[in-house]
Amino acid sequence: ETVEWDPEQAGKGEYDHFMLKEIYEQPTALAQALEGRIDPENGRIALENFEPGTFADIDSVQFVACGTSYHAALYGSLALKQAGVQSTALLANEYSVSAPPIDDDTLVIAVTQSGETADTLTAMRHAKAEGASTLTVTNVVGSTAAREADEALFIRAGPEIGVAATKTFSSQAVMLTLLGQRIAADLHGEVPANLESLLPELEAMPDSLQALLEQSDAKAIAERYENSQSYFFIGRGLGFPVALEGALKFKEITYEHAEGFASGELKHGPLALVTPDTPVFAVFNGVEDEKTLKNAEEAQTRGAPVVAVCPDGHRAVDIADAHLAIPETEPDLAGLLANVQLQLVSYYAADLLDRPIDKPRNLAKSVTVE
Ligand code: G6P
Repeated sequence: ETVEWDPEQAGKGEYDHFMLKEIYEQPTALAQALEGRIDPENGRIALENFEPGTFADIDSVQFVACGTSYHAALYGSLALKQAGVQSTALLANEYSVSAPPIDDDTLVIAVTQSGETADTLTAMRHAKAEGASTLTVTNVVGSTAAREADEALFIRAGPEIGVAATKTFSSQAVMLTLLGQRIAADLHGEVPANLESLLPELEAMPDSLQALLEQSDAKAIAERYENSQSYFFIGRGLGFPVALEGALKFKEITYEHAEGFASGELKHGPLALVTPDTPVFAVFNGVEDEKTLKNAEEAQTRGAPVVAVCPDGHRAVDIADAHLAIPETEPDLAGLLANVQLQLVSYYAADLLDRPIDKPRNLAKSVTVE
């Protein structure tokens, strides 16, 4: 007698989809990414070949990336700016027409899960030809990006099968946060002020994520707002790339219309779209939350249900129509926890619609054409 054995099916273990499995792998993926790289007791970061001083001659940083990796790049770029370093994130496919001046003091960081995205490789090659130093933050050892960049930093997330990137976004954002701290320390000649509080919170991230995954109300929220017309996501500061990523994930796997906006931008146009059929997911990360709350209330006044993504006890919980809870953490990391709740909402919304979650129509895991 032979037993039917489908390796793909077996790889999913107890999960219905790779995407859900990969969402649940995030505590482990992050622990792997951080392993040996942070030393909270001594306030130190150790990133393999990036010894203190490595970036001392850099005067600006440009990130290039596409899709979900671009959102991680925006996150990393903003964190770097907050640490006082001149930095910008650019879509790799726009780079040849939009790149700021490049010279040999420019560091170009290509963020790419696969290391094979043609748009990103082209941008990186262009930067290199112009004299920039190049570095890639990638998941795939031996990828084209890893081979061609001057240096590579590996996120160690393990293989990601679902076309919609999940665990690799979290690991990229965390590694970019660490790398940003290293760069800022090199440029300012001193350890950034918030490193002392950041490192213990980073170390606690896998446990915080685990707690979030065990108690998430994302499925109930997906059910409650099924059959809406559009889904909006807003956030401010580091919450903005999370809003963009929340919307991208939602459209990729549900095929429903979703958009992410900077909270403050809602009133400059998108508010015209807001109705009782357009739930607004608001990400709070402890940065000007009062303003974001006001922006969310402007949508609520027009009938839109507001889902607050924030810790228990946050003022937004009393005002919002629904709540997705995240553990308390540093403002620099809160968006990453919020993002996981949004991944779960997308997943359950797509599941209700019976979409082919791991392989959405028209999309590919890695796009090797421009
Ligand atoms: C494709 C995938 C996206 C991914 C993007 C960038 O479009 O469908 O999920 O974010 O490529 O991929 P990379 O491997 O460069 O991170």
